[in-house]
Amino acid sequence: MSGTPPSGSVEALRAEALAAVEAATTAEAVEALRSAWLGRSGRLQDVLRGIGALPPEQRGPVGKAANEAKGAVEAAIDVRLAALRSAHEGALADREWVDPTMPLAAVAPAAAPAATGRGLGLVHPVSGMRRELEDICLSMGLEVLDGPWVEDEWHNFEALNIPRDHPARDSHDTTWLEDGNLLRTHTSPVQIRTMATRKPPIRAVAVGRVFRHEALDASHENTFHQLEGIFVDRDVHVGHLVSTLRTLLGEVFRRDVEVRLRPSFFPFTEPSFELDVRCLVCGGTGCAVCKRTGWVELLGCGLIHPNVLRAGGIDPATWSGFAFGLGVDRLTMMRHGIEDIRHFAAGDLRFLRQFAGGLVG
Ligand code: PHE
Repeated sequence: MSGTPPSGSVEALRAEALAAVEAATTAEAVEALRSAWLGRSGRLQDVLRGIGALPPEQRGPVGKAANEAKGAVEAAIDVRLAALRSAHEGALADREWVDPTMPLAAVAPAAAPAATGRGLGLVHPVSGMRRELEDICLSMGLEVLDGPWVEDEWHNFEALNIPRDHPARDSHDTTWLEDGNLLRTHTSPVQIRTMATRKPPIRAVAVGRVFRHEALDASHENTFHQLEGIFVDRDVHVGHLVSTLRTLLGEVFRRDVEVRLRPSFFPFTEPSFELDVRCLVCGGTGCAVCKRTGWVELLGCGLIHPNVLRAGGIDPATWSGFAFGLGVDRLTMMRHGIEDIRHFAAGDLRFLRQFAGGLVG
């Protein structure tokens, strides 16, 4: 008698292997069975290797049974692995389940500010205004874009029609980096990036942080926020600019706002304007916020200069556009009656907690 079993014993081996696979509770255990039964020196492989020593009439049936057993064990292993994997994922989903709609107080009742001194997260008033602006712009059908804080001279100045010796650079106190780049002094470089990556018509805004290396006072910070708007289409005129901004500001202040344009100068727009809104604090009769003028200066705007369109790869013979740059911090100050911009970055929690309306959650 050789050590190789007849086909009846192959059936027994097959049953033993299948039972072991079925009983395995981890993927590692299943893989161990795969090598113990099917591997090069596995038990079913042994049967096939011993076939040559069998009497000739047994070789066919035993070989066939052993090959079938291998196939069956292989298939059982795959099924078992898939079952274990999905059980594992199901357990994970049960364990890590989160209800994002659950009120924070129910999730972390002990996290009330007075109890722990740590409190729940607050949305900074400028971030709250920024989110609101983005929502409004999206609802107006505008694309909301982003741009880098670290810019190169070309995007921040040259492409915006501000060559190196242009006096407008004096008003952009610039933080230069050692590698020759700079911290963007306004969001207008996003205009260039937008035109370079899109074909008109373009209707987009970008809101974000800007940096000016300048003396601080109640209305000047060295880091603040702007909302840049850029529209490019055929036959764009100042009427489009005014109606878009009236709609936008009406949404922000949730009422009709009266606006006026004053002639101004920016190298990247022609004509250029400052847009004022009728003071929402006093209604125009004169107060500290509007410095008794009845009007508050909110943004710079104008029709995009042909040189800027060209720098963005757009032909000014076919296309025209308008752009605006709105001071988000100033808007936030008007909304909440904040008198000093320096509060925003001072990190005083007593100041920030007054805007708890913007609770995270
Ligand atoms: N970039 C200008 C500034 O920071 C504002 C502006 C943007 C003016 C777009 C006109 C058009 O002062």
